[in-house]
Amino acid sequence: MSHVVAIKDQVEAAVRAALTEVLPAELAGTDPVVRRSDRADFQANGPLAVAKRVGRAPRDLATATADRLGGSVAEAKAEGVANAAVTAEVSGPGFLNLTVPAATLWRQVAARLADESLGIATTHDGERTVIDYSAPNVAKEMHVGHLRSTIIGDTLARVLAHLGATVIRQNHVGDWGTQFGMLIQFIDEHPERTWQGEASMSALDALYRAARAAFDTDPGFADRARARVVLLQSGDEATLSTWRELVAESEAAFQAVYDRLGILLTPADADGESRYNADLRGVVDELVAQGIAVDSDGALCAFTDGVVGPDGDPVPLIVRKKDGGFGYAATDLATVRLRVEEYHATRILYVVDARQALHFRMVFDVARRAGWLPDDVAATHVPFGTVLGADGKPFKTRDGGTVRLDDLLDQAVERARAELAEKDHGLTPEEFERVAQAAGIGAVKYADLSNTRTKDYVFDVDRMVALNGNTGVYLQYAYARVRSILRKAADAGVELGRPVDPTLPLHPAERALALTLDELAATLDDVAVTLEPHRLAGYLFDLARAYTEFYDRCPVLRADDDAVRAGRLALCELTGRTLATGLDLLGLAAPDRM
Ligand code: ARG
Repeated sequence: MSHVVAIKDQVEAAVRAALTEVLPAELAGTDPVVRRSDRADFQANGPLAVAKRVGRAPRDLATATADRLGGSVAEAKAEGVANAAVTAEVSGPGFLNLTVPAATLWRQVAARLADESLGIATTHDGERTVIDYSAPNVAKEMHVGHLRSTIIGDTLARVLAHLGATVIRQNHVGDWGTQFGMLIQFIDEHPERTWQGEASMSALDALYRAARAAFDTDPGFADRARARVVLLQSGDEATLSTWRELVAESEAAFQAVYDRLGILLTPADADGESRYNADLRGVVDELVAQGIAVDSDGALCAFTDGVVGPDGDPVPLIVRKKDGGFGYAATDLATVRLRVEEYHATRILYVVDARQALHFRMVFDVARRAGWLPDDVAATHVPFGTVLGADGKPFKTRDGGTVRLDDLLDQAVERARAELAEKDHGLTPEEFERVAQAAGIGAVKYADLSNTRTKDYVFDVDRMVALNGNTGVYLQYAYARVRSILRKAADAGVELGRPVDPTLPLHPAERALALTLDELAATLDDVAVTLEPHRLAGYLFDLARAYTEFYDRCPVLRADDDAVRAGRLALCELTGRTLATGLDLLGLAAPDRM
């Protein structure tokens, strides 16, 4: 693996050096503010921004910087300077329009192609990142809320691992709590209701609702359920054994969903709430000893400076309830402690919906004060918005129930099947079915990932599976088109992987594609910092569009000569590998043919 320095970084370094030479010493290293531009390859606004501080006319300073960069474009052309790092032209009030020589771009394409990881540096080497995601609840169906956590968390896990971090996946399954006393008691009293085996989750979900109804209406049952909670907590064997069956049955159902969705989670990643059971007393005792948790109306609570409710009263983080039971907050405090102490995390991400923002703010604050979360460990809540139905309200079935994930995926696959069937695809029925699955499931994942994480979005299957627009299917198509060209080339006996001739001129569509191809590494770094997968989705969409433009304008197999064809094939190959890497990091399958 060898790291390839991105063109933009090279350009930035060149302009920074040139600007430093024309500025007084104390302004050395001033940010040249380099951006992609539609007028040239890049634009630098740094000279304009700093001119006032040195009392110079912006165009003057920009011209001086451009001169240092090796002359104007015209001069460079006249002198045949093909290898100047960059050529600059002053424009407007004092911007620099920057153009990269064709040879630099061709060499960059070749350098990325020559590296098996496309020259992407492992910028997160040495980090240990715990990612808490998915976290469905035992004996309940996974719902759309878990879908978002699952999809977003998985992409973050993939991207961070790709950049060299050691990623520790944690599925904080809801597998403990008083509700299990109720459920187990109900199961015991209704041996006629079977729930194991196929469709166990629907059966369990129904059982759970029936148990809840009995609990709310039948005081006798409620008492027996409470007694059962005590038995569960004290480790009664018969009770525990039913509980274990519930957990096993649910985990198998979750795993089926993960497998279908192409999610990395396995049973080994499950660190459910029950795992922390034995730690809770210690967590609370320590908080009391440190004076962080105090009695409030019989409950033990911690408070965070500045966190007040609408009435102005401090909001409590309840670590032990009035009835002596430990809650969700105590468990999450225990997760922080364990992840630092045992997993040696340097960064902990909780991919949980936005409504839990306050919970995590307080958990992190309390954990820091208790000394469980050292300053050099970052704990971050990674919030996300709600999935909405067509009516703009949280997504529900017609009768107001939770939408089963399997049903939702079935629906997407069916729409994808219909959409793809209209194309003249030339696939065998088996291949077609595989592609329809990849397209339907990819469509759901991509729709989620391409939306700004913190925003709500409307679940609209028709839009998700569209062949045009910012969809997963569009990207998969772009990839399949690249593969198809490379296959045709091979079939025609064209040699692939020939060295690229850097003296070739660049068509504007080739130039735009080459520049976009060079941005994957920076995009991934950006995702790793912001934890926003839509940046990668948006990048891949731009790339697919740049490729489409190139494909429309620059004949590949029917290119004028061998050298031009070799250059274009290199662009195709790099596009294919870049799309494949990006799609894989988003967790989308990339079929070779569609
Ligand atoms: N099981 C919870 C739910 O379904 C989500 C848990 C999120 N993770 C955590 N560490 N609190 O809402």
